[in-house]
Amino acid sequence: LSTTEVDLAPIQVGQAVTVVWRGKPVFVRHRTPQEIAAAREVNLAELRDPQPDERRVIKPEWLVMVGVCTHLGCVPLGQKPTDPKGEYGGWFCPCHGSHYDTSGRIRKGPAPANLAVPPYAFISDTQIRIG
Ligand code: FES
Repeated sequence: LSTTEVDLAPIQVGQAVTVVWRGKPVFVRHRTPQEIAAAREVNLAELRDPQPDERRVIKPEWLVMVGVCTHLGCVPLGQKPTDPKGEYGGWFCPCHGSHYDTSGRIRKGPAPANLAVPPYAFISDTQIRIG
């Protein structure tokens, strides 16, 4: 399938789900106000791949990203409540230790770029279509 639809209604604040789009994992996280604030108060000059959080989301509470580490393609941890989320509260790639923040931006470790945001759109208040 070239598109994947996701029903966001059951995903609680603070929860994340992983869906598959074109054979790749896509992370959907319902961010908390704290996670959004943390993503937005970062000084962009500190970032390896400087991108404001506002440019990575359509609605601040919903972060949608391809769950493939931009180093060598492992799937980072951080989706399950018990997963390590790294030093910046987002995702941690266990393969070689890349840390991503609550916007999915690379903050520490060997990955060269932020987790990619796929093309997607809201098709209703609580549904997105990826692709
Ligand atoms: Fe993620 Fe190397 S593949 S840090």
